[in-house]
Amino acid sequence: MRESKHPYIILSAAMTIDGKIASKTGDPELSDEQDWKEIHKLRSQVDGIIVGKNTILKDNPKLHIKFYDHKGYYRIVVDSNLSIPVYSKIITFQPQIYPTIICTTENASLKKIKNFESKGVKILKSGKGKKVNISNLMPLLYNLGIKKLLLEGGGTLNWSFIKKNLVDEIRLTIAPWIVGGQNATNLVEGKGFETMAQAPRFKLLEILNRDNYVVLKYKKN
Ligand SMILES: NC(=O)c1ccc[n+]([C@@H]2O[C@H](COP(=O)([O-])OP(=O)(O)OC[C@H]3O[C@@H](n4cnc5c(N)ncnc54)[C@H](OP(=O)(O)O)[C@@H]3O)[C@@H](O)[C@H]2O)c1
Repeated sequence: MRESKHPYIILSAAMTIDGKIASKTGDPELSDEQDWKEIHKLRSQVDGIIVGKNTILKDNPKLHIKFYDHKGYYRIVVDSNLSIPVYSKIITFQPQIYPTIICTTENASLKKIKNFESKGVKILKSGKGKKVNISNLMPLLYNLGIKKLLLEGGGTLNWSFIKKNLVDEIRLTIAPWIVGGQNATNLVEGKGFETMAQAPRFKLLEILNRDNYVVLKYKKN
């Protein structure tokens, strides 16, 4: 059992039939308008969205909502070396509705911290290692009022959550392409588990299909 002071975590992603969440050149255009609407609806129900720093560098997403009314939420990025540009859209686009948190480590440069803070970004430090300590980060987010957290990738960050068995629910769109490519990012990257017995198992709750798209919903078993 995990401690209670953790957000409830929903992994949300769109992947190709062959499990890729972007092409080998980084093309992430998998969702159609209907899928975006559903993703935005899910965003409207959470207190925060978390992504890895490569997703910011590659896609420069706004992580906003355009289809629904909502109360706003935190946009959170894990970035051990504070390397995302200060002009990234998650920092500059509507910060009054979607405040931004960058999660880093105890080793982060004070100068960079001050620079981000001067742009209104909140900095959280978790861990003394090379990467952000995800397990220790969860209570810090919870204490900021983030009770429900949407994990929006990419594959490397997804692995860090799966590895620690932190994912409570999954919403997965299967888009009608097979794109291949050894270097195309998979839904989950990282080292992987040795056996199925070690890997977290999920219970299928729902299958929706429309226009060649399939949406699968799972819960932690
Ligand atoms: N289709 C979809 O639904 C979807 C959604 C999101 C992203 N994507 C795609 O995914 C790709 C990016 O995925 P990615 O796997 O390359 O990177 P990522 O998961 O976005 O970011 C990983 C980076 O985050 C930082 N990080 C810090 N602490 C970490 C920790 N504990 N665990 C994991 N990461 C940590 C690391 O960089 P530092 O060491 O420098 O901190 C790490 O390299 C993009 O092409 C994007 O388009 C697709």
